[in-house]
Amino acid sequence: MNNIPPNEAKISARAVAAFANTPNPRLRQVVQSLVRHLHAFASEVELTEEEWLEGIRFLTDTGKQCDGIVRQEFILLSDVIGLSMLVDAINHRASEAATETTVFGPFYIAGMPERGHGENMAFTPGEQALVLGRVLDAAGEPIAGAVLDVWQTAENGMYSGQDPDQPLTNLRGRYRTDEEGRFAIRTIIPVSYPIPTDGPVGRLLQASDRHPWRPAHLHFMVMAPGHRTLVTHLFNHDDPYLESDVVFGVKDSLKVVYQPCQANHPLAARHDIDGAFRLASYDFVLEREIA
Ligand code: BEZ
Ligand code: FE
Repeated sequence: MNNIPPNEAKISARAVAAFANTPNPRLRQVVQSLVRHLHAFASEVELTEEEWLEGIRFLTDTGKQCDGIVRQEFILLSDVIGLSMLVDAINHRASEAATETTVFGPFYIAGMPERGHGENMAFTPGEQALVLGRVLDAAGEPIAGAVLDVWQTAENGMYSGQDPDQPLTNLRGRYRTDEEGRFAIRTIIPVSYPIPTDGPVGRLLQASDRHPWRPAHLHFMVMAPGHRTLVTHLFNHDDPYLESDVVFGVKDSLKVVYQPCQANHPLAARHDIDGAFRLASYDFVLEREIA
């Protein structure tokens, strides 16, 4: 780091000190640290006026690409710079027994339909899949009545809400575990897809020679009373983008195999599946809510 001239160091010190009387101690800590680090960054790179203005334009454009429904360019920005995964890691340090977490992403839609055991949530074509498993507590006991809010893209790589040709409820739904903690989701195999590149985040990726792809995954938010809500994905184990996920979200423990099953597999009759399908199994483990 370069030596900061005294008059510049004085500006930074005064700016940090200006927040010293913030009554809320946590807000004081966060704002003072943010100002300190932003000043250190500007000093380190010796930010030019044109670069400062370009940064302001970039953040302004980022704000303009937020629609409050499924386009949230600020979350996307946080994701591609690894900040979302860092915050996730900081906040799940003590979760040894629990299923690992990953990014929430900007495409969740609340209030999707409750679906029955094994109900199909796919209204668009794709390779048929069945995802089975249980929701357990940290002691390995099944949790009955846990809710799994699930979402994924269609085969064209777009989420409902992004794509006017899909019904909003396509590839989304809320499943509930039975008395043995079991769930069954009928869907299609997830595909890899690029995050939106038509905004400032796309321009940043392009300028940095980075690709925009996420490895194929199924999103989960798993909720049960008395337990900490789990936000995670299941990744297809053989996806070519597992090592270079644009948002750094992959964890080994979240990879699943979709086994090929013939039409005469006993689960086909049980879940009313016509023809061949793929079967993935996974047990989620929730930790107790911290009091
Ligand atoms: C997603 O998986 O939906 C997602 C996560 C981070 C950024 C963009 C998309
Ligand atoms: Fe996704």
